[in-house]
Amino acid sequence: MGMRRKLCFTLLVLSVIVLSASLSLANTQEWEGQEEEEEEEDENPYVFESHHFLSKVKSERGRILSIPKFDRRSKLLRGIRRYRVVIQQVNPETVLTPTYLDATAVNFVSSGQGTINVIHEDRRDSFKLEKGVVFRLRAGTTFSIVNHHRRDKLNIIQLLRPVNNEGQFEPFFLAAGSNPESFFTTFSSEILEAAFKTSSGELQRLFSRREQGQGVFVKASKEQIRALSVSEESGGIWPFGGQSRGTLRLFKKHPTQSNNFGKLYEADRNDYPPLEEEDLSISYANISQDGMIAPYYNAESTKIAVVTDGDGYFEMACPHVSKSGDDEQQQQEGRSGVAYHKIRSAIRTGSVFVVPAGHPVVTVASNRGNLEIVCFEVNAKHNVRYMLAGKKNVVKKMEREEKELTFDARREEVDRVFGNQNEEFFVQGPEWRQQPGQGRAYE
Ligand SMILES: *[C@@H]1O[C@H](CO)[C@@H](O)[C@H](O)[C@H]1NC(C)=O
Repeated sequence: MGMRRKLCFTLLVLSVIVLSASLSLANTQEWEGQEEEEEEEDENPYVFESHHFLSKVKSERGRILSIPKFDRRSKLLRGIRRYRVVIQQVNPETVLTPTYLDATAVNFVSSGQGTINVIHEDRRDSFKLEKGVVFRLRAGTTFSIVNHHRRDKLNIIQLLRPVNNEGQFEPFFLAAGSNPESFFTTFSSEILEAAFKTSSGELQRLFSRREQGQGVFVKASKEQIRALSVSEESGGIWPFGGQSRGTLRLFKKHPTQSNNFGKLYEADRNDYPPLEEEDLSISYANISQDGMIAPYYNAESTKIAVVTDGDGYFEMACPHVSKSGDDEQQQQEGRSGVAYHKIRSAIRTGSVFVVPAGHPVVTVASNRGNLEIVCFEVNAKHNVRYMLAGKKNVVKKMEREEKELTFDARREEVDRVFGNQNEEFFVQGPEWRQQPGQGRAYE
């Protein structure tokens, strides 16, 4: 009954609307994980699980979910409060009818196939969507999404940067219907009659035609789907299409890191110019079963990661969330004001987690299969990734005296530890070292 208690607590804090959204989310499948330890929420504001998700639109044919505002979850996430993470899910043989957002969106297709049709001021573009496609949609650009597949859902992960209110976005639906309604129907009928130079009867027929319950996600016939789908690119893939017009196919790139323990695909402003405007880079880590990403930190970027497949866990050293009380208390007790807290959390398909700049982190795949994660790195322009272990770690570049003074040890000893791992970035995970019967650390 822990879940019910949590929801009751939510009722006190949030509005009734938010409550019903999270209740309905409890029934969802794909983006839901197992139960979570209760105390994790307070101690670890860096992970979002399915019970955190809010639902903007939910119907039989598709959903638009978002995680809450970052700064609402925790003050520690204020640095990325401009952003929101959204999941758009379009069911088979369904069209998300034309919509725009008051937010610029960088999109990553995490599964499924389909087409996005984009209506610009002076032209219309269509792009094929498949796993690994990245595209940027500017705020206010009207788009529709078609899932032509007969069985598979189309899932798109979006990083939104709202343009009106920091961290707050709204979709604007042209579609006629109830729940949600078309924004057109908000206007007075005499206004619409004058604007369209038509009769109120005709307007009413058009705007109240759709059956009850049918919303912005609409089932389409095979012919309609075919007409709205592209088999070939009409807008072109960067760099062959016009600048900023195309999409980027992340998995067509060579991995920047690749060994038995995983593959990393990375794209930055040189691969896709809109990423420069958004000051963003995108990467996709496919960590092999029992593999892990060796400890590293990002110099300037904050990483917003979404698990697209598999499960595992991550550990991070965090100086902000400290077990041993606040800074003042520590200083009164004569202890150093710096203490690192171990943030550790299981992650699984649908988990969203945040790794702030400077925070050393590792990500470990389970022994059940690969762990796949898409990462949006914000504030990307001058970012450098510094490895703390593996073939190219920072300690290896230090002078002998630095090593000796830092670790109060002979250089040879330091080198034995920091020079032993020959793999780079992806390494074998901790599983193989565990004693039989010890079980998985994160279970
Ligand atoms: C990740 O790796 C596994 C195993 O090699 C592979 O089956 C899967 O397709 C990969 N995922 C992506 C998105 O490339």
